[in-house]
Amino acid sequence: MSASHPDNAPAATAASAQAFQTRLADRAAAMETTLTEIFNRRSAAPPRLLAAMRHAALGGGKRLRPFLTVETAALCGAEAATALPTAAAIELLHCYSLAHDDLPAMDDDDLRRGQPTVHKAFDEATAILAGDALLTLAFEVIADAGAHPSPDVRARLTLGLARAGGMTGMVGGQMLDLAAEGRWGAARLSPDDILHLQALKTGALLAFAVEAGGLVAGADADVQARLARYGKAVGGAFQIADDILDHEADAETLGKRAGKDAEKGKGTLVTALGLSGARAICDELIDGAIAALDCFGAEADMLRHAARFVGARRS
Ligand code: IPE
Ligand code: IPE
Ligand code: MG
Ligand code: MG
Ligand code: MG
Repeated sequence: MSASHPDNAPAATAASAQAFQTRLADRAAAMETTLTEIFNRRSAAPPRLLAAMRHAALGGGKRLRPFLTVETAALCGAEAATALPTAAAIELLHCYSLAHDDLPAMDDDDLRRGQPTVHKAFDEATAILAGDALLTLAFEVIADAGAHPSPDVRARLTLGLARAGGMTGMVGGQMLDLAAEGRWGAARLSPDDILHLQALKTGALLAFAVEAGGLVAGADADVQARLARYGKAVGGAFQIADDILDHEADAETLGKRAGKDAEKGKGTLVTALGLSGARAICDELIDGAIAALDCFGAEADMLRHAARFVGARRS
């Protein structure tokens, strides 16, 4: 696919917002099936561990990361179904991050996706182990021959997931997030510090979800560079929107506790710049994400809608 046809850039309204919602729901259902099959193939695992992993990973969530992987792969010419194992691996790692994020030692939350958090439904030790097992399962799935026929592509996917999820990605960001609460000494974060923290804790995995779609489809370097701009911007906007929702929405709509960031003294742009300041940066990132897709025609409308959805979502 060439990235050199700006004249083809359509109004992003070519596919309606309703078509996007339907596609998101369809992709989420396909992801639920894929994840269910992954667990069903591992019924030899200790039942309590498997039950806690299923609790963490099944029956909820927007499935935005797998959506981005599958839609990016489709945009770059791959059959959507070929991206499902890779997309599932990314979702498994995300679900692990949520199970651990909710632990008493971290954000200490009781509600996730409208259900009790894993340590509430089970216990802390089980939640830690379920998270560990979801993380390792993610690597089992992405490194498996079922993820891609090419060993070289599988190696790149595996390396990318490790980088996005690890010490210079999600885990590193979670460390900065907790430090920003002032747990280990006073912390005063500038807006740029907050953007850096968020690029790691949330942006890295979302950006990798997009990159992985391109890798599965064998996208050329030029297209991958544009997709990287898109992924980075969507990833940045996503956490700002989450922080705005934490401030504005209620637990019933969110399916998780609201108002917890201010209570814990989290480093967010809402705290640093106020709601309108945070919203302005979020909108700017979403515009940047859509602009990064200028070289594509109507075939990129789902990704354009996904960027808008990140800013407009209510949960
Ligand atoms: C929540 O992610 C954690 C953040 C990175 C802000 P999502 O909002 O994608 O959670 P689910 O998967 O839809 O439940
Ligand atoms: C979590 O960010 C990001 C992760 C890497 C899990 P938050 O702590 O803001 O996510 P929620 O609000 O609990 O979903
Ligand atoms: Mg957190
Ligand atoms: Mg949290
Ligand atoms: Mg949050």
